[in-house]
Amino acid sequence: MKALLLENIHPLAVEVLEARGFEVELRTSSLSEDELAAVLPGVHLLGIRSNTTITKRALDNAPDLLAIGCFCIGTNQVDLDTAADRGIAVFNAPYSNTRSVVELVIAEIIALARRLPEKTQRMHDGIWDKSAKGSHEVRGRTLGIVGYGNIGTQLSNLAEALGLRVIFYDTADRLAHGNAQRRATLDELLAEADVVSIHVDGRPGNAGFFGPEQLSKMRPRSLLINASRGMVVDDVALREHILSGHIAGAALDVFPVEPKAQGDEFESALRGLDNVILTPHVGGSTQEAQEEIGYFVATKLAGFARGGSTALNVNLPEAQAPDLVDGFRVSFLQVNVPGVLAGVNQVLAEHGVNVRAQYLSTRGERGYVVTDAEEALPDAVLATLATSPHAVWLRTWSA
Ligand SMILES: NC(=O)c1ccc[n+]([C@@H]2O[C@H](COP(=O)([O-])OP(=O)(O)OC[C@H]3O[C@@H](n4cnc5c(N)ncnc54)[C@H](O)[C@@H]3O)[C@@H](O)[C@H]2O)c1
Repeated sequence: MKALLLENIHPLAVEVLEARGFEVELRTSSLSEDELAAVLPGVHLLGIRSNTTITKRALDNAPDLLAIGCFCIGTNQVDLDTAADRGIAVFNAPYSNTRSVVELVIAEIIALARRLPEKTQRMHDGIWDKSAKGSHEVRGRTLGIVGYGNIGTQLSNLAEALGLRVIFYDTADRLAHGNAQRRATLDELLAEADVVSIHVDGRPGNAGFFGPEQLSKMRPRSLLINASRGMVVDDVALREHILSGHIAGAALDVFPVEPKAQGDEFESALRGLDNVILTPHVGGSTQEAQEEIGYFVATKLAGFARGGSTALNVNLPEAQAPDLVDGFRVSFLQVNVPGVLAGVNQVLAEHGVNVRAQYLSTRGERGYVVTDAEEALPDAVLATLATSPHAVWLRTWSA
């Protein structure tokens, strides 16, 4: 089987795929729709990052393609519906840069508490301003984490190790880590926190979630950090609160409007303010995150092609089938109509198949069943399933 990896994907991905028996072709750049159409026949796994767009036309010219790995966070560069219609699984790496974001936020909490942005600026301007005024240790201060998911919880652990007291607010029921304490409302958190760090997800309802009202409810001289989504914080209102001195500093990694290309001008109401750290959406951008993404996505692609596991894919039903160590496996993707999964078991039972384990799942218009059996399934069973009117594809493996 052949894997084509575009856009300079981390070499660890090549190692993982070659170790699982794939022939890997590595390219440094992305490909256009026409170029993809020319090279995709004969490719079983395709790896891309955010600069390659996978359109319906590209997929029309990919007769052998089993799966696409987006070696990044987003998947909107892929026509996910068409891929799902063809039974092509799409994987990404939503959590591989969690630690990178958390480390940036930790650095920012300390830098803002010590007013490092303005101190370093003064030094570059040739001004020696040695003073403890407005500088604080973070030990014993209260960090309020808004959105206690993957990033929020890891931040909670690291912040406690630094001696911060952690409180959090989340709309979902999240388990508190370490000594962190839940607050029932955002207002309660804002009334208590010396530093507010926002880590909510990008659901549409979070647009403008943190505006003038929330900023007014923050403690006087508190700090605000947003490394989640640009649309979440009202940057014009934040500017006013910084200029008035109510907010003592802020660190922003994401913005309502971000420049499209490298070198484009960055326009923001937050430029030129004292004790404000602005970074170009680099929270998750580290070499370690790239390596982790390379390993994570390559492992998922191989798991799918070698054993049918769709764990953590974004467009097909999710069945977390472990690697097959012995026996025989059949994976069957079909159109999700009532009774269709039960129908599979009926066929297996009629032919006396001894099922060892089964992983079932549905998502939207598709249903997926992975069946492990002691022995190879009779040809009649495979033929019955593969020719059923609802079949998308059927694949088999033996250990
Ligand atoms: N700056 C970067 O480079 C970078 C890198 C990675 C992730 N991110 C962003 O960081 C954010 C968090 O990522 P994650 O992996 O922790 O996501 P996650 O889905 O694991 O966690 C998000 C949490 O926010 C909670 N939430 C959503 N809306 C809320 C609201 N209005 N009030 C309170 N809680 C709310 C959810 O219940 C969930 O627990 C995402 O927006 C993600 O896109 C940014």
